[in-house]
Amino acid sequence: MFITGDLPIVAEKQLKKAGFTVKINRNQKQLTKAELISGAKNADAVISLLSNKIDMEVIDCLSKCRVIANYAVGYNNIDLEYARKKNIIVTNTPDVLTDATADIAMGLILAVTRRFYESEKLVRDKKFVGWQPKLLLGSSLQNKTLGIIGAGRIGYATALRAKAFGMKIIYFSRSRNEDFDEKLNAKKVSLPKLMNAADVISLHLPLNERTKNIVNSKMLDLMKSSSVLINTARGEVLNEIHLIKLLKKKKIFGAGFDVYQNEPEINHELLKLENVYLLPHIGSATIEARNQMAEIAAQNVINVLNGKKPITPV
Ligand code: DGY
Repeated sequence: MFITGDLPIVAEKQLKKAGFTVKINRNQKQLTKAELISGAKNADAVISLLSNKIDMEVIDCLSKCRVIANYAVGYNNIDLEYARKKNIIVTNTPDVLTDATADIAMGLILAVTRRFYESEKLVRDKKFVGWQPKLLLGSSLQNKTLGIIGAGRIGYATALRAKAFGMKIIYFSRSRNEDFDEKLNAKKVSLPKLMNAADVISLHLPLNERTKNIVNSKMLDLMKSSSVLINTARGEVLNEIHLIKLLKKKKIFGAGFDVYQNEPEINHELLKLENVYLLPHIGSATIEARNQMAEIAAQNVINVLNGKKPITPV
């Protein structure tokens, strides 16, 4: 069995207890394709990270592999159809990271609307000369509208948090979501309507052919000048270049990113902007979530290799 990254110890313990030999890449550096292939080619199972691109070329080298357990809820890094064709089961780690990711989305919403970075910088730069009526005014969330794009578990958990801050919720998704409608009194709207009406827009879509660049330049141009965009989903669901243009021209109030189009590379223009928050893809980075993700990934592998059903197949 090959684990492509340095996971919480619980995964290794669980797998060893179940009698498997475990090879782990403990290097903190991302694996190259050649290193990934070399580590995985003779393994019965692979526990992969979202940063490992498991495409046709890699899958063709996995001669013995029966399961790829992705250590993430998203699995856009894996060519799912091709894996299926080769009879390799793919699993993910849903649910256990929902709250952690929604917390980061809510944190970004607060950071942008209340200008945490500029405020913190002012103090550190020793420019705080006393309380002032107009110092770093942000905008209140009370009675403002949050537009959730992608009404799955994380979108719902984010909306639930925002509701506690007094926000009204609208959402865009393929189908109606009863929890949104009934528990949050939220309204399902079209994507253009959401882009135009929301004060805060938060993206929670999985990345696939249908959602790639769904928040395109035309959609972004519909945003109000006072509005804020938060992306904790995947960089490729929006047109990052166009969003940067709008931010530079101050056509929108601000943005918060946990994910990027060319991750881990960050567009250098983003680094220069003030009311933009840049996190290093830490949506699920709590000790609790990461431990549970490790347990689920290991259990999926154990189940498949023992001829049982995985607990969270995709
Ligand atoms: C996931 O699991 O897909 C998240 O992006 C990790 O933070």
